[in-house]
Amino acid sequence: MILRDWKYEDILKISEMEKECFPLEPWSFQMLASSFGSETFHGILAEDGGEIVGYGGVTVACDSAEIENVAVSEAFRRVGTGSAILERLIDIARERNAVKIFLEVRVSNSTAMKMYLKHGFSGVYARTRYYSDGEDCLVMAKEL
Ligand SMILES: CC(C)(COP(=O)(O)OP(=O)(O)OC[C@H]1O[C@@H](n2cnc3c(N)ncnc32)[C@H](O)[C@@H]1OP(=O)(O)O)[C@@H](O)C(=O)NCCC(=O)NCCS
Repeated sequence: MILRDWKYEDILKISEMEKECFPLEPWSFQMLASSFGSETFHGILAEDGGEIVGYGGVTVACDSAEIENVAVSEAFRRVGTGSAILERLIDIARERNAVKIFLEVRVSNSTAMKMYLKHGFSGVYARTRYYSDGEDCLVMAKEL
């Protein structure tokens, strides 16, 4: 498994994986392409034998960073791919001089929360009925 930066040609596959990994509110091709075009955004993906198996992105503005999405194909989970992507995104935020990094996670997503806790994030506050289906979001943060 290797990690590398997103290329424009990867966005179609990433948009397909969004539907699989975030069935309730997937980012569309246009949303991903728009992020990709932003200077504040950095996308990383994991590739195995030439196949994209996971991806994530971080936006850094001034001294603050936000993890936008981290996802791994179901067949490739539980072998450290999500952690590798997350750690690379954290490194990128540090390199771009962020001092704090944030993310949002559905309160029901205990799997992702466990991963974020393991990597030093802690819950800071909740946003009530944040998602379109009415679910609350937990904002998590980590000092860099
Ligand atoms: C969350 C996600 C990215 C984790 O990817 P992954 O490659 O399986 O993660 P890792 O193998 O690096 O696991 C890291 C830690 O996460 C936790 N974890 C991962 N999968 C878990 C599971 N099924 N049950 C419980 N804990 C789990 C564990 O703490 C694990 O550490 P451990 O293996 O030492 O116990 C993946 O499950 C996913 O893509 N989910 C759907 C998309 C999503 O919800 N993304 C997060 C949005 S905020």
